[in-house]
Amino acid sequence: MADTVGKIEIQCTVNGSHSHFKAYPMARLLDVLREELHLTGTKEGCGEGECGSCAVLMDGILVNSCLVPVLQAAGSSVITIEGLAAGETLHVLQEAFLECGGAQCGICTPGMILAAVHLLNGTPEPTTEEIREGLSGNLCRCTGYSQIVDAVAEAAARRRTTA
Ligand code: FES
Ligand code: FES
Repeated sequence: MADTVGKIEIQCTVNGSHSHFKAYPMARLLDVLREELHLTGTKEGCGEGECGSCAVLMDGILVNSCLVPVLQAAGSSVITIEGLAAGETLHVLQEAFLECGGAQCGICTPGMILAAVHLLNGTPEPTTEEIREGLSGNLCRCTGYSQIVDAVAEAAARRRTTA
């Protein structure tokens, strides 16, 4: 079929499930996630690697999916915002963002939360400075960042008390 010419079969794990699809090798992971896999939680802001709205975890590394050719994701494990909640139960960071007012328009929120997951995976008890540093690749036009930093600190504290 004409619209599959040049596309290749790609296999990877997305949010814990095996996934295979055809895509142009240089298609942006962001577009494949949203358009092929219908995971529209991952947002596009700048499209140039500057804002972090499109951030996902790839083999545990935080990446801006607008800069990742999907070929690079072949064989990897990708986690998007849809992969965090367990059914109806929100991830502790999602709860904390809601409660602390860390999400307003919501465009930055999925990427911000994935960046926070990445931060807490490596630094379970971050200082305020470490939170700000860990989220420094993610831009937010709405919140002024304080509520976001509070939300990450709150989530870290809750993880300690439930560990
Ligand atoms: S949309 Fe990817 S970094 Fe801005
Ligand atoms: S909540 Fe609107 S950009 Fe962050």
